[in-house]
Amino acid sequence: MALTTTGTETHDLFSGDFWTDPHPAYAALRTEEPVRELALPDGKAWLISRYADVRAAFVDPRLSKDWRWTLPADQREGQPAAPIPMMILMDPPDHTRLRKLVGRSFTVRRMNDLQPRVEEITQELLDALPAEGPVDLMRQYAFLVPVLVICELLGVPAEDRDMFSAWSSVMVDDSPQEEKFAAMGSLNGYLAELIERKRTEPDDALLSGLLAVSDADGDRLSSEELVAMATLLLIAGHETTVNLIGNGVLALLTHPEQRARLQADPSLITSAVEEFLRFESPVANAPMRFASEDVEYSGVTIPAGSTVMLGLAAANRDPEWLEDPERLDITRDSSSGVFFGHGIHFCLGAQLARTEGRVAIGKLIAQRPDLALAVDPSELVYRESTLVRGLSRLPVTPGE
Ligand code: HEM
Repeated sequence: MALTTTGTETHDLFSGDFWTDPHPAYAALRTEEPVRELALPDGKAWLISRYADVRAAFVDPRLSKDWRWTLPADQREGQPAAPIPMMILMDPPDHTRLRKLVGRSFTVRRMNDLQPRVEEITQELLDALPAEGPVDLMRQYAFLVPVLVICELLGVPAEDRDMFSAWSSVMVDDSPQEEKFAAMGSLNGYLAELIERKRTEPDDALLSGLLAVSDADGDRLSSEELVAMATLLLIAGHETTVNLIGNGVLALLTHPEQRARLQADPSLITSAVEEFLRFESPVANAPMRFASEDVEYSGVTIPAGSTVMLGLAAANRDPEWLEDPERLDITRDSSSGVFFGHGIHFCLGAQLARTEGRVAIGKLIAQRPDLALAVDPSELVYRESTLVRGLSRLPVTPGE
């Protein structure tokens, strides 16, 4: 797709063919207009698309998470800094406080302890896939691995998991906005109740851990903050990992020589997952920042008060950073890609996401050697989201 430079006009990038293959458009932006204001379905935002700029922008304190910078100075007073108390929407010191508290429970040890459960959950889902197709691998596999893992992580009881999974599915799929709000409401109510239950019946899972944490000054998470944290973990850990699995499997199905290498040497799954994250980044553009003052990147000034997106998908294919970035190569070292963000908001669940990706993709490729696409790649439909990159459906024939 060629980009037409329209001078000061806002560019309408997110439309038409873009959803099928956004990479030519991102490449054109990176070379011609690396910092550019774009029209979004609900407003407009500046997109920063070069790897070096994106890394620098992640640690630029002038690019704030506080939406009030978009308001005229005389209207900021009295507005809440974050609409919900979620740390991903906050700047220091509020962010620092929540991240520190959750960090006490979200430990490397807890993630390591989860690994055998990730393997069991994945194996059960794999065993349930019929050999005959077609099946929608998104719905019957990619979607279920992360939601069940999050249930396990939080300590959602087995009998509630179908319900939990149904709400998550509405929040993640292309359901109408009102249904999403309703599902979010039900989920918040459920989580608030579950947290109360954990107060009297604690277990070894994360929610009980979060209830128990307090820092040296005795600071604790309030009930409202706990619900917001659990919701954040669900949203941030679900939609993203679904697409790591979907995009990764599709990358292998459309690159048979790469698949053959992985089948011949399953230990390549570690570097392969980094490469999938780079090649088709599940978070295509990092959540919004807001300019607290004029900022300049690649010689372009973004005015104070602007909304800014950090282009992860574009940055992760920047030839100034990586040689031959349009080529999928599961043996290369892509671990310095910006798929999990950078700086203070660096993904809290990166280790867990990597484990899920390695287990879900690795097991599928090893155990279903005849797995094949059930449609022509040109018929695949992607979700129309400026935030995540992923398939609406992935029809496959699983094989024996
Ligand atoms: C933050 C990507 C999986 C929890 C982020 C950010 C990115 C990201 C790019 C930075 C957002 C920003 O700077 O605005 C991904 C990808 C995943 C994944 C690509 C899967 C492939 C997970 C999982 C969890 C999780 C499994 C937890 C269960 C979080 C949280 C934050 C975050 C809590 C906010 C951190 C903060 O504000 O300090 N993630 N993520 N993510 N992620 Fe992930």
